[in-house]
Amino acid sequence: MKIAIVGATGAVGRMMIRNLAEMKIEISTLDLYASARSAGKTLYYVDDALLVEELTRDSFAKGYDYVLFSAGAGVSRSFAPFALQHARAVIDNSSAFRMEPDIPLVVPEINGALLTGYSGIIANPNCSTIQMVLPLAVLDRMYGIRKVIVSTYQAVSGTGQQGLEALYQQRNGSSEMGVYPAIIDLNVIPQIGGLQDNGYSAEEEKMYQETRKILDNYQLALSATCVRVPVKFGHSISVYVECEREVDLNDASTALAHSDTIRYSANTYTTPLDLGNSNDSHVSRLRYGTDKHSLTFWNVANNLRLGAATNAIKIMLAHAKGV
Ligand SMILES: NC(=O)c1ccc[n+]([C@@H]2O[C@H](COP(=O)([O-])OP(=O)(O)OC[C@H]3O[C@@H](n4cnc5c(N)ncnc54)[C@H](OP(=O)(O)O)[C@@H]3O)[C@@H](O)[C@H]2O)c1
Repeated sequence: MKIAIVGATGAVGRMMIRNLAEMKIEISTLDLYASARSAGKTLYYVDDALLVEELTRDSFAKGYDYVLFSAGAGVSRSFAPFALQHARAVIDNSSAFRMEPDIPLVVPEINGALLTGYSGIIANPNCSTIQMVLPLAVLDRMYGIRKVIVSTYQAVSGTGQQGLEALYQQRNGSSEMGVYPAIIDLNVIPQIGGLQDNGYSAEEEKMYQETRKILDNYQLALSATCVRVPVKFGHSISVYVECEREVDLNDASTALAHSDTIRYSANTYTTPLDLGNSNDSHVSRLRYGTDKHSLTFWNVANNLRLGAATNAIKIMLAHAKGV
């Protein structure tokens, strides 16, 4: 497979390179692009030293099977149309195209069928949404979910390299806020992305919109409170779900335990530090909510892996299979 990564030097781009190697994808070409700042840097794919090139409109002329974009919405909007002229598909990790009606927003385990026969831009969902929507899809199929209320605890790597740097510098005594609206070290910040007129933040709005689109369930009500916490890697979510039909706790836990990409723990729980190199969505502390029509659980996943790189690569593999 001939692959290009745009934003290869970023937190997600680097994880894409690592994930491609871990997943042993057959690659004949792997080209890495970033801004002029990083041109000439070396990154490693297993033992191969690869030179990072500056992204230009002509970067894609040699032709690729897949171009993976992970350099922010502005870069995707400006360059994805050029990439598309020379690739079977573009997989975009940014928010640029996610809510475009004609662009599939894909978590392959849930709506991978949308990829069959499709060519064009494919949107990779928001990180917290991907990990949460995997267990929600299982419960939706079983009980018809109607209302979801979540609070997130999101790692600084969700803001990319600058988020990690802000935390490291503040740990070393800096009082600069860096990329955040408040100090993050030894603190929590109840704002991720800009605040909208309706009082929700951009991240909260993404969870609402994207979950409904992926589940193709536009009856679903969802209220999110997204919080940045001083954790390096791994987003955690406290999820409360109300269902149309009465829930059987044993059946729900069995279904979750047997679902692809979900790791269910009945007798313990997962913290971000427990994730290691896991590419899965971890579900634990499953219990009834306020009555037999509701459930609540704890959900943790690596935002750079499942929440970004891994889902993008799974989209690529599913697309390659379905074309
Ligand atoms: N971090 C997460 O957990 C996560 C999860 C899901 C989705 N995403 C999305 O993934 C994208 C990347 O996030 P990240 O966390 O990896 O950010 P990051 O660490 O800040 O990396 C940004 C990357 O974009 C490149 N870039 C910036 N401006 C560019 C330009 N004009 N032309 C070419 N390349 C340019 C940077 O290159 P230089 O090194 O040259 O600056 C770097 O490689 C964002 O759209 C983000 O919303 C992130």
